[in-house]
Amino acid sequence: MTLDVEKIRSEFPILSTEMRGQPLTYLDSGASAQKPRVVIDAMADFYSTHYANIHRGVYHLSAEATRQFEAVRGKVAAFIGAANEREIIFVRNATEAINLVARSWGEQNISEGDEIVLTQMEHHANIVPWQMLAKRCGAVIRVAEIDDDGVLDVAHLTSLLGPKTKLLAFTHVSNALGTINPVTQLVALARDRGITTLVDGAQAVPHQRVSVDEIGADFYVFSGHKVVGPSGAGVLHGRMDLLEAMPPFLGGGDMIESVSFEGTTFAPVPHKFEAGTPDIASIIGFGAAIDYLEAIGMDEIAAYEHELLVYANERLAAVPGIRIIGQAKEKAAVISFVLDDAHPHDIGTCLDGEGVAVRAGHHCAQPLMKRMGVPATARASFAFYNTREDIDRLVKALVKTADLFA
Ligand code: ALA
Repeated sequence: MTLDVEKIRSEFPILSTEMRGQPLTYLDSGASAQKPRVVIDAMADFYSTHYANIHRGVYHLSAEATRQFEAVRGKVAAFIGAANEREIIFVRNATEAINLVARSWGEQNISEGDEIVLTQMEHHANIVPWQMLAKRCGAVIRVAEIDDDGVLDVAHLTSLLGPKTKLLAFTHVSNALGTINPVTQLVALARDRGITTLVDGAQAVPHQRVSVDEIGADFYVFSGHKVVGPSGAGVLHGRMDLLEAMPPFLGGGDMIESVSFEGTTFAPVPHKFEAGTPDIASIIGFGAAIDYLEAIGMDEIAAYEHELLVYANERLAAVPGIRIIGQAKEKAAVISFVLDDAHPHDIGTCLDGEGVAVRAGHHCAQPLMKRMGVPATARASFAFYNTREDIDRLVKALVKTADLFA
């Protein structure tokens, strides 16, 4: 089935707006995806007619809000192929999920001299929490290399997995290069050696069908705002036996069983990790986003975005002085590039003048930029609501930009 992209576009209010007198060409879905009306309406409807706090009230409105909120847990579990919905922990975003694991699992399991293996292509969110943990615990960070095309060197990574390695944390899909890592193979390499794994799925879940149970990682994280849901709704999927053994991350209301000044006992998983009033409306909107994506089909989305990637690669080859950074064969619809003499920030500004939104900078991946030998790149990242016309407009604006800097 091919996507009815015109219909899809009509369902995203922002996509029919103009930017600087031109139709908006939104090519920054890697940073955050736009929202379909069903998501916006679900949140407005919840606030207008169904709003109450959850897990607390005996009155109908609160019970109904709790039911709606908890139903999203089941939707998320089905969406990412998790058989047990209690393994879904709601957090604000992928960053918070990684920090939760680093604090809770990390401090219980990592000690002096232990090693944490990362890769050169990690987002800062999958570097900094581990560095902070390593500093607290006296652990050592080891980094698996990538090649000039932006492909992970699996042999090098394997050579780093030794008796001291306690954790392998890596991204499923690189936010800055689009490289898709062999996630199941990497998780198996770690599991065979008794090493715990955390996979950053923030750039994978929006673009392909993901089955966390098939991948088999101990922890898998992603953000709702990149899957056409609202900001403020993110997910930590963890293996139940690990989650049960872990101490809480934040303490407070809603995560306890009983409290006295002599001592407190905690609620079972997942609520042990969900202290305080969550972003209820965002979780409800997240549920609507998942329903929306499921109705289109993640396999259809993946196939369509791959066609866009192929088309964009062909068309961009015509831009004078362009160099694409990240040439992996297995690649999501993300194109990072530099233009001969133009700084990526200037490229971003010139494109903005033509109504084309791309991200320019280090993409929260400074070690990766260093490895690729560039201070920054401009990045076009696509979603299923983009079209060939968007790519044509990008190319036209880039040719104009290249002219300015020639
Ligand atoms: N991690 C997001 C990006 O790649 C913000 O742009």
